[in-house]
Formats: sequence, C-alpha cells, structure tokens
Amino acid sequence: MGLNLKVNLGNIELQNPVMTASGTFGYGDEFEKLIDLNALGGISIKGTTLEERQGNPMPRIIETSGGMLNAIGFQNVGIDRFIKEKYPYLKKLKAKTFVNMTANTVEEFGVLAKKIDELDQIGGVEVNISCPNIKAGGINMGTDSKMAASVVREVKKNTSHHVMVKLTPNVTDIKVIAKAVEEAGADSISLINTLVGMAVDIKTRKSKIANVISGLSGPAVKPVAVKLIWEVVNTVKIPVVGIGGISTAEDALEFLIVGASAIQVGTANFYNPRATIEILEGLKSYMKENKINDINEVIGTFES
Ligand SMILES: Cc1cc2nc3c(=O)[nH]c(=O)nc-3n(C[C@H](O)[C@H](O)[C@H](O)COP(=O)(O)O)c2cc1C
Repeated sequence: MGLNLKVNLGNIELQNPVMTASGTFGYGDEFEKLIDLNALGGISIKGTTLEERQGNPMPRIIETSGGMLNAIGFQNVGIDRFIKEKYPYLKKLKAKTFVNMTANTVEEFGVLAKKIDELDQIGGVEVNISCPNIKAGGINMGTDSKMAASVVREVKKNTSHHVMVKLTPNVTDIKVIAKAVEEAGADSISLINTLVGMAVDIKTRKSKIANVISGLSGPAVKPVAVKLIWEVVNTVKIPVVGIGGISTAEDALEFLIVGASAIQVGTANFYNPRATIEILEGLKSYMKENKINDINEVIGTFES
C-alpha cells in the first residue's frame, strides 16, 4: 500500500506536510530549476504589502552561529504586481500557495485580504502580524493580544479563504496570543517568526546590520520553536504549522510529533535549496522504517 502523506489544515488539504517559509523562497519560480515545485505541500510567498517596497538599507543579512540575522524589511512587489505577475505561475502548481501578507494598520490588512479574496486558486492567506501598527504608536501587532485579534477579525471579514495567522516568538506568553487569534476566527496558526536579535562589529563598534535590530533564524532557533509550538498545540484546537530551524526530516519529525499538522522550511533553503525535497524523502523513509502508512499517525504523538 502507498504511503499517505496528505494532511489537513482545517478545510484545506495539503498533498504532504512540507511547505516553504515566507521570505526564503521568493515566489517559488526562482527555485523551479533546482527542485520539483509540484512535489511540495505548500509555498508561502514573500511577505506582500499593499504597495511595492524596496526594503531596508544594506547590510541586511549576516551569518551567525547556527543561523542568520536578517532585516530585509519586506522588500516585495506589492499585492497588485503579485496578482498580475506571480499568481498565474503559482496557481498552476500542485503545491498550495499561501499569500503571506503584512501591513501597518488593521484597515490595510482588510484591504489586502479583499484583494487576495479574488484569487480562486490559493490555499489561503498567511497573516504576518509581527509588524508595528503606525496608527497605534508603533506597537507590534503580534505582541498585543487585542490588536492581534482585531487584525484577524478584519482579515476574516474580507476573505472567505483559509486564514493562517503567523505568530512572533517575541512575547512573554505565546498562549495568550494564540488563544486570542483563535477566538477571533483564525483557521490555523503558524509559528515561529524570527527571534529579535542584534550583532556588533567590534572594530567599528557599529551594528553589523544597518537596521540595528534584526531577526534570528536557522538551526539555532529550533529548540525554542519546538517548545513554543508544543505550548500552542496544547492551547488551541485549530491546526498549527511548525516553523523554525528545520533543515532535515528528523527536525521536521520533532515538530510533527509535538503536534504540528505541517511544517515550513525557511533558512535551510538558502544553504541547501533541495532541503524541502530531502525532508520529504526522509519522512517517507522514516514511515517505511517504522511501518507507518499514514503521516497523521505521527502528528501529536509526543509523550510527556
Ligand atoms: C531572509 C528572511 C526573510 C523573511 N521574510 C519573511 C516575510 O516576509 N514574512 C514572514 O512572515 N516571515 C519572514 N521570514 C521568517 C521565516 O518565514 C521563518 O518564520 C523564520 O525564518 C524561522 O524559520 P527558519 O529558521 O526555518 O528560517 C523571513 C526569514 C528570513 C530568514
């Protein structure tokens, strides 16, 4: 009998649990010569904003021990160009597209959601709430449960698509935010976004990143991510997508075992463009070795 790798995120079915993480896989097409995009479960596109953005000044990426710091600042083509230039390619793929989006006001999230609602062949939207609300004095929407909930309500009001809400790990208690977005109507939760960090050049005594504050990702963040995902899985009933330092099938399995219904691969795409495919093959080998026919038999089997 064939192996079943299909997983459900509520009302959405993915052909397998391996997705790519936003900002590390462009709009998919850049990887078409390197891997078979049709083999993936899903693709989360670069964070899309209402207007096209050039992002932060350079340098905006550096390598760290077991990871990297970035402060790209949402360089992207903007929602209208995405719809015109990128969506026609993505919609033909078997991998489900998740339109990752970000905005600086609650209202702007609504406008984006309405535009995305017109795209009939996507898996859903992924709402990145880790951004400052410029109307509310720059408070990060992902760290304030009331604001996070109002973003989700606004997005839900404007789209009938699956709404995945991406959480930041930079909070005191992730459970409070997870509960708030679930109650506001999120269909699933993905986490973690990057951990805030900083790095100093000891010769110049200046920041190694022009923006000073940046986000840490890669293998170094994996244990933090696994713990936060486990907490969220035990707090909400909606499906959870695990992200953070995944570069091998063994990494992915840790997330599935603690209860993630799917996973996203981020930084690993930069140093191993075939990481997603290798993870997929590794999951199949694990299933065969352990006589598991259905990947769903692995999800949430953590023994505490
Ligand atoms: C260069 C870079 C750009 C990113 N851009 C976005 C983005 O636009 N939107 C978003 O939600 N997350 C973004 N992320 C966060 C990743 O999607 C992911 O949540 C995070 O890096 C942790 O996963 P990883 O350790 O596998 O990279 C970015 C990460 C990196 C490294």
